[in-house]
Amino acid sequence: MIQTTWCLVFLSLSTQSTSTTAAGRCAPHERDALLAFRASFTDGKYLSSWRGEDCCQWNGVHCSNLTRRVVELQIRHSRVANSSIGFRGGQMNSSLLGLQHLRSLDLSYNDFNGMPVPEFIGGLTNLRYLYLSYSNFGGRVPPQLGNLSRLLHLDLGFSNVNTYYASVSDIHSDDLTWLSRLTKLHYLDLTKVNLSTVVDWAHVVNKLPSLVTLKMRLCTLQNSIPLPVHINLTSLQYLDLGGTDFRLPAGANSLFFWDLPSLLHLDMEGCGLQGLIPEKMGNMTSIIRIHLGANDLTGTIPATFRNLHNLEALWLSLNNLNGALSELLQRLAGNSLSTLWLYENNLTGRLPDQLGRFSNLTTLDLSYNRLSGGIPSSIGALTKLTELQLGFNNFDGTITEAHLGKLASLDYLDLSDNSLTVLVQERWVPPFKLTKAALRTRNMVLSRNQISGMLSATMLQEMEAETIFSEVLPTWIGDQLPSLALLSLRSNLFSGHIPQQLGKMKKLQYLDLASNSMSGTIPQTLGDLAAMAISPQDDGSLADIVDFGMSSGNTDLVTYTDSSLVTIKGQQLEFATGIMYLVNLDLSGNTFTGHIPEEIGKLAALKNLNLSWNHVSGVMPDSVGKLHSLESLDLSQNQLSGEIPASLSDLTSLAHLNLSYNCLTGKIPSGNQLQTLNDQASIYIGNPGLCGPPLTNSCSNANLTPSAPLESREFSDSVSFFLAMCCGYVVGLWTVFCLYLFKKDWRVVSLSFSDLLYDWIYVQVALSWAYLRGKHE
Ligand SMILES: *[C@@H]1O[C@H](CO)[C@@H](O)[C@H](O)[C@H]1NC(C)=O
Ligand SMILES: *[C@@H]1O[C@H](CO)[C@@H](O)[C@H](O)[C@H]1NC(C)=O
Ligand SMILES: *[C@@H]1O[C@H](CO)[C@@H](O)[C@H](O)[C@H]1NC(C)=O
Ligand SMILES: *[C@@H]1O[C@H](CO)[C@@H](O)[C@H](O)[C@H]1NC(C)=O
Ligand SMILES: *[C@@H]1O[C@H](CO)[C@@H](O)[C@H](O)[C@H]1NC(C)=O
Ligand SMILES: *[C@@H]1O[C@H](CO)[C@@H](O)[C@H](O)[C@H]1NC(C)=O
Ligand SMILES: *[C@@H]1O[C@H](CO)[C@@H](O)[C@H](O)[C@H]1NC(C)=O
Ligand SMILES: *[C@@H]1O[C@H](CO)[C@@H](O)[C@H](O)[C@H]1NC(C)=O
Ligand SMILES: *[C@@H]1O[C@H](CO)[C@@H](O)[C@H](O)[C@H]1NC(C)=O
Ligand SMILES: *[C@@H]1O[C@H](CO)[C@@H](O)[C@H](O)[C@H]1NC(C)=O
Ligand SMILES: *[C@@H]1O[C@H](CO)[C@@H](O)[C@H](O)[C@H]1NC(C)=O
Repeated sequence: MIQTTWCLVFLSLSTQSTSTTAAGRCAPHERDALLAFRASFTDGKYLSSWRGEDCCQWNGVHCSNLTRRVVELQIRHSRVANSSIGFRGGQMNSSLLGLQHLRSLDLSYNDFNGMPVPEFIGGLTNLRYLYLSYSNFGGRVPPQLGNLSRLLHLDLGFSNVNTYYASVSDIHSDDLTWLSRLTKLHYLDLTKVNLSTVVDWAHVVNKLPSLVTLKMRLCTLQNSIPLPVHINLTSLQYLDLGGTDFRLPAGANSLFFWDLPSLLHLDMEGCGLQGLIPEKMGNMTSIIRIHLGANDLTGTIPATFRNLHNLEALWLSLNNLNGALSELLQRLAGNSLSTLWLYENNLTGRLPDQLGRFSNLTTLDLSYNRLSGGIPSSIGALTKLTELQLGFNNFDGTITEAHLGKLASLDYLDLSDNSLTVLVQERWVPPFKLTKAALRTRNMVLSRNQISGMLSATMLQEMEAETIFSEVLPTWIGDQLPSLALLSLRSNLFSGHIPQQLGKMKKLQYLDLASNSMSGTIPQTLGDLAAMAISPQDDGSLADIVDFGMSSGNTDLVTYTDSSLVTIKGQQLEFATGIMYLVNLDLSGNTFTGHIPEEIGKLAALKNLNLSWNHVSGVMPDSVGKLHSLESLDLSQNQLSGEIPASLSDLTSLAHLNLSYNCLTGKIPSGNQLQTLNDQASIYIGNPGLCGPPLTNSCSNANLTPSAPLESREFSDSVSFFLAMCCGYVVGLWTVFCLYLFKKDWRVVSLSFSDLLYDWIYVQVALSWAYLRGKHE
């Protein structure tokens, strides 16, 4: 044995040394065959290396060290190689048949423009590996492939990378008899090849006993003749038949699918399976992943699932499973699940305390069931969770730090449409940073007044129960929510200062802290709110939210819609999608002190600035004149002193101004827009030191030029004016109030009135919703 090995090595070395010294190196006829074949392709960079005598040196050509014959050809579009190989059309040159030692041929990720797989490939009888996926082949799969009796790997999946769902490519086979001759096959991928007329497909693949991987996803397989009773596929580890419509009772007459002892991965998503999940599956003791989503399965998980000790992922969403969740979970107690999808079923009962034992869970989706009761604190033991979706159930009760305090990896939290209350201690900082959160309620048909009513009623209750309100805006807000675009905490009971860190919220375009009990100075860092310095674009941060609301169309998502309430120009206006263009800073109705920072002038895109009803003092900064987009400026009811800066007349977009009830002095500036504003006298009323038009007291020591007569341009109806500005967007009414992120001493945030509590940080259409839409359409 040892002797033989030595001998071979010696032989190999000597042959190699002679061949490397020989001229030409690769066989000339193989070189010619390759060049003729190349002519079929549009020459990208990749094939341009096909020059020179030794074809073994060419890109994608691999020769045997022993014989110097071409054994592997890889003409594969790949990003790594910077290639764009393509196909010129017409016919692929059969000169390739000259490469009789070829063991591996890879033409995947090209564009063959719908032409059929060439028949001559069936003549490459030494082939072991044939890769033709994602290459836009069309037409009939040639039965000549059945001549490749040594083939181990056949990949014809996804004829076109762009046609996963659209059925553009027409690649098909009407008769798979040729396949049964490939008895050595380990790997077979026919994904998206139309096999709808092949009645005996299961019998054909059953003749391939070496199969380890079988992918026939989206092959429109039929279940018209009885399936094989005796199963040869003892080596099969990976089976994907998803997206075929068997209309098959899952329990009976389908051993073919369930009697596969080596199976690790089973995907029968959307296969029209009906009835109970077969007990037989409990015999697939090696299985790691089971995907049976989007079928018509009923009942619960069979008790035999306890035997599936290796099960890590179970997808049973979009079925009609019923019965108690606790029983279902009990039957999964024996395994180490990391992913459990049960959304959109008919499961009932409570979330059991034993949930904590699934400590490896990273994804738990129980949304859209009929679950009720409280959330057990043992959920806090699921410390690896990244996605927790409990939305659209009937859960009630309280969520505290005990639930959330250790979920450091949490990324997506959906509690929407339940009756949950979040109750956390003061100064509690969540250990997680969510990128997606859905915290909405089902009562969206309520009018704004009804909602406000509920809101204050709940607040009142809390006051009685707890007595002290000390809600402050946390300093971490800028770090934790750098992408927040809209923050509205209007009419709450917030106190404390505006944290300097707020300036880190570079996307913040809308900040409304009006009618709270906040104090301290207006931080200079507000000038760093970059999104208030540039005009919002159609694709700006808020546009995401708007698109989300709008694109929800007629699906369930429409229930999230409501209108936004904005106070501007002295009017409460309901905004539709126009809010995406609104740049707003409203700090009115608090007890802020100090002066208006000069930095405010950086927020050049501001349309509404309201600092009224505070204790702001000092002079109005000259930089106010830089706020060229400003349409509404309200500084009334403060202690501003000094003269009104002349730069105010630079605000040519101004439609509303209120400087009343301050200590302003000197001459009122004139020019441009200033004279056109309505109700001139009340703009300046309550400032005894002011003089000149439109006030009656003249500035005695100044040489006055008569000011322009009041223009009669009317904004009699500022509502219609503003809505007109948003013209074309008043389509859907909905609201986005980004209130809180499980913070602190917004102690009691009852999700039953959380219409105002939306927290979409990045609004994304979750995968589950995409599925949902698919099912509902
Ligand atoms: C294949 O290449 C050979 C040699 O260049 C040429 O003679 C022949 O016409 C080609 N055939 C096709 C179908 O392009
Ligand atoms: C052929 O030779 C090259 C270079 O010496 C070496 O990297 C490669 O592994 C060899 N291939 C085989 C199959 O021995
Ligand atoms: C791919 O192309 C880019 C730019 O054309 C170049 O910078 C890079 O080096 C290329 N990569 C390879 C692997 O050729
Ligand atoms: C290759 O397959 C075709 C069709 O299946 C058959 O007609 C032909 O005889 C086979 N050729 C060889 C060399 O076996
Ligand atoms: C598959 O082929 C059948 C028969 O030719 C055709 O009716 C059907 O539309 C095709 N299905 C797809 C998804 O292309
Ligand atoms: C596979 O099973 C079928 C029964 O469905 C049997 O007729 C056939 O001989 C078996 N083939 C192999 C290769 O084991
Ligand atoms: C599971 O396998 C065992 C042993 O092979 C067998 O006795 C039992 O009937 C199988 N169970 C089912 C439900 O098929
Ligand atoms: C969690 O996973 C680890 C490693 O995969 C495993 O050893 C452990 O038993 C699992 N724990 C549970 C409770 O399943
Ligand atoms: C859910 O189960 C109840 C009975 O428990 C039944 O009335 C209802 O129709 C089921 N829902 C669906 C969608 O099947
Ligand atoms: C400014 O805010 C106050 C108090 O919130 C409000 O009454 C007033 O109407 C607002 N001013 C404008 C111009 O919207
Ligand atoms: C300005 O605000 C005061 C109350 O602060 C109000 O009486 C007055 O009507 C307002 N003027 C305008 C033009 O809105």
